[in-house]
Amino acid sequence: MKNVCIVLAAGVGKRMHSSLPKVMHPICGRPMVQYVIDAARGVSDKVIVVISEKIDKTVFSNVELVYQKVPLGTGDAVKQALTASCNIPDETPVLIVTGDNPLIKSSDLEELLAFYKDTKSGVALLTALSDNPIGFGRIVRCKTDFVKIVEEKDATEEEKKINEINTGIYVFAKKYLTDAINEITPNNLQKEYYLTDALTILKKKGVKVSVKKLKRKFPVYGVNNRKELSIATKIIQGEILDKLMLAGVTIINTDTICIDFDVKIENDVTILPGVLIQGKTTIGKDCVIGPNTRIVDSVIKNHVNVQYSVVRQANMGDNCKIGPFAYVRPDSKMSKNVKIGTFVEVKKSQFGENTKVPHLSYIGDTKVGKNVNIGAGTITCNYNGLQSKKKPTFIEEDVFIGSHNTLVAPVKIGKGAYTAAGSVITEEVPEDALAIGRAKQINKKEWAKRRKKSNG
Ligand code: UD1
Ligand code: MG
Repeated sequence: MKNVCIVLAAGVGKRMHSSLPKVMHPICGRPMVQYVIDAARGVSDKVIVVISEKIDKTVFSNVELVYQKVPLGTGDAVKQALTASCNIPDETPVLIVTGDNPLIKSSDLEELLAFYKDTKSGVALLTALSDNPIGFGRIVRCKTDFVKIVEEKDATEEEKKINEINTGIYVFAKKYLTDAINEITPNNLQKEYYLTDALTILKKKGVKVSVKKLKRKFPVYGVNNRKELSIATKIIQGEILDKLMLAGVTIINTDTICIDFDVKIENDVTILPGVLIQGKTTIGKDCVIGPNTRIVDSVIKNHVNVQYSVVRQANMGDNCKIGPFAYVRPDSKMSKNVKIGTFVEVKKSQFGENTKVPHLSYIGDTKVGKNVNIGAGTITCNYNGLQSKKKPTFIEEDVFIGSHNTLVAPVKIGKGAYTAAGSVITEEVPEDALAIGRAKQINKKEWAKRRKKSNG
């Protein structure tokens, strides 16, 4: 076994003031701990994640999960991991990483592992020089020699001035870690079992404890509150956008764009200001997205234009045009060349090739064929106020729906049929027919003149 990594993720995260456990707070669409797990996977053949019972275990894959029932401290979390995974050979290096450090990369962990090996240490610790060390464990040295890590809450005023901090990343030889972990006591202000005490315990036993200063500088070395969450998010968002731009995506004004980690965008796409692309969305070549648009969990093919619109769980073929000001709700599917235009809401509906809903409409639970034009202001009445199950509308190919129609579902408009403007359609319209569902117009001659006269 090359090495094992333990990711500590069972803490409460009091400083987040949240009902969601800290490590599950999302950064660019995935829990922050997922970034730490990715970094660990890059260097370790076995990754153990210590979680609390409040954490949804279904989000994890390819890791061994261990529960810490009561958050008694980082030292206790490691103890739970070692107890559950008792078959790790004694000489194996055990890498430990806090789960609230989403900015860490495999290369940083690699650096510490190499240092541990090169220095033939029993323990290696990764530290960093920080402009803002408040809240972190400080590295107390005697001259240059490592003495101990002191937590902010337990530090003296002198110790608080130290700007070398503990990043929360360590490598221990398994046998030393097991020894030390059983000797840690909660003898501190927080009454917690501090993992950091393991280093002092081992040093006193004559084990070689080496300290490596991280080469890179991070803006935060652990996310403990929402301000740090925002700082880490900005960095990760920047990395995602950089990667997309270098792969051929034009992004106008990166400060206004949020794109999730799992989003895939092909080259020659232009993203205009004010765009959020979230979840597992994929976007094909030559699309123009934005301005001011939100797309969630959708599949969008090539040459699509979406502007000033919200699109959720939709599937769009080539050359579709969405918006401005459209709301495409879940389970909507558009074939090629479909237009969902200005102030149009669609829900759970399918649209065949070349079909257009250009203005002011609501289309729900509807199957629309190809080459259909739906006139401005058309509404599908899919809900009768009583049954929760919505009623379907079927509009076959080559149909022309006149402006301001009300299609009372369940109803079908046959292939090639027309409906007159202003119609309320309550019955099936046969193929190629014209349906007129409105009161016949009556013109009362000279009526207005007579009225004016009678009013004197
Ligand atoms: C810890 C270190 C501190 C270091 C900092 C780096 C200790 C005692 N202190 O402090 O020296 O500078 O990280 O970011 O280790 N966790 C558990 N179970 C628990 C408690 C915590 O799994 O009972 C997990 C948390 O989910 C978190 C990680 O351990 O991911 C660190 O805990 P946190 O409370 O954030 O420790 P810090 O105060 O930041
Ligand atoms: Mg922390």
